[in-house]
Amino acid sequence: MAQVAIPISPAHKAKSAYVHIPFCTVRCGYCDFNTYINDFGPGASRGNYHQSVLREIEMSKRCIEGKFRTVFFGGGTPTLLDAKSLAEILHALPVATDAEVTIEANPETVTAQSLKDLASAGFTRVSVGMQSAVPKVLATLDRQHRPERLPVVAQWVRDAGLDFSVDLIYGTPGETLEDWKTSLEHALSLEPDHMSAYSLIVEPGTKLHAQVARGILPQPDPDEAADKYLLTDQVLSEAGFAWYEISNFARALPGEDHLDASKRRFASRHNLAYWRDWDWWGYGPGAHSHVGDTRWWNVKHPLAYAQRVRDEEIPMHEGEKLSVEDRELERLMLSIRTCEGVQAPMRPELEGLVTENDGRLILTVQGRLMADYVTRVLAGWEG
Ligand SMILES: C[S@@+](CC[C@H](N)C(=O)[O-])C[C@H]1O[C@@H](n2cnc3c(N)ncnc32)[C@H](O)[C@@H]1O
Ligand code: SF4
Repeated sequence: MAQVAIPISPAHKAKSAYVHIPFCTVRCGYCDFNTYINDFGPGASRGNYHQSVLREIEMSKRCIEGKFRTVFFGGGTPTLLDAKSLAEILHALPVATDAEVTIEANPETVTAQSLKDLASAGFTRVSVGMQSAVPKVLATLDRQHRPERLPVVAQWVRDAGLDFSVDLIYGTPGETLEDWKTSLEHALSLEPDHMSAYSLIVEPGTKLHAQVARGILPQPDPDEAADKYLLTDQVLSEAGFAWYEISNFARALPGEDHLDASKRRFASRHNLAYWRDWDWWGYGPGAHSHVGDTRWWNVKHPLAYAQRVRDEEIPMHEGEKLSVEDRELERLMLSIRTCEGVQAPMRPELEGLVTENDGRLILTVQGRLMADYVTRVLAGWEG
């Protein structure tokens, strides 16, 4: 990999921005995200990290045309930064007035006041990491909150007037199908607008990976995970939610076309930008950017990042240019995951896995369990 020139062409206006906040109070045993429980001094500590991001934003303004229509503060735990610092970052970005502005939050790191402050600053949506409603599952995942915290946080989110999403994880070792049903029902009782349900991935290098390798915890069973996904689709559909990406479900409003995600009030526009292969600009250590056929990613460690921006240097680590074929394949892999599907002719091996709608192939619920296989067939690698 090499350094690449950042494209400045106005033809590639990034519509979305991602801001990475690389701090957590505890590293959850399953998580391999670029996040740290330590502070690293000036520009790389919770109390002053925002200064580094502000420097990077200033430098990026030489390249950016137009205003961001979606902004996503992800982590790590963005809500470990105080609302004032988060607001400073948001206000430094060129953001459209009707933009969707999301922040990820861990339940134990928000208060009624901090959520109100975020809403006043221009945040429109909170994605709360609930993961499970079952204490033994939360303990296996090393989560810091108790299930009783969620209804309290949900009320604060509503009082602040923010759209409300919850993240859940299924397939944790020791979680039964009944446990997962309990988590889904608890999540629905919070009346969220949006739910993400992720199948637990045992990432190499994590504590969970070591526990599974040593036989302390059982390997998640893919058949059980499939049953849990089918249950998710059934329970959420009955509760008035509709999928718009394999792991993402949005509350459906009367009259909404379920297959047109861009017109769904509660489908995340930021998520859709990723799956549509639109351009986005990433800020913070390890953040990835994607503009036209160019991808690049920043230096990973918060200290190296802080030093680079302090020296007025773009904190890019490496990048690559994608060929036309690579981009076509990427588009296929991303769009087949969405309820809008892909324009492609039907193939006999996809019977039961996709439906045809106006020349587009859209995954059935069985197809969503086998999305990788469907992609390989459409790419001509199977059959
Ligand atoms: C990286 S976290 C950041 C948000 C916040 N710190 C939290 O934990 O809720 C974003 C989401 O990624 C998901 N996630 C992280 N690691 C995962 C893994 N190994 N398998 C499945 N989902 C994972 C979790 O559901 C989490 O809510
Ligand atoms: S899952 Fe969230 S809280 Fe846990 S370590 Fe990862 S980023 Fe931090």
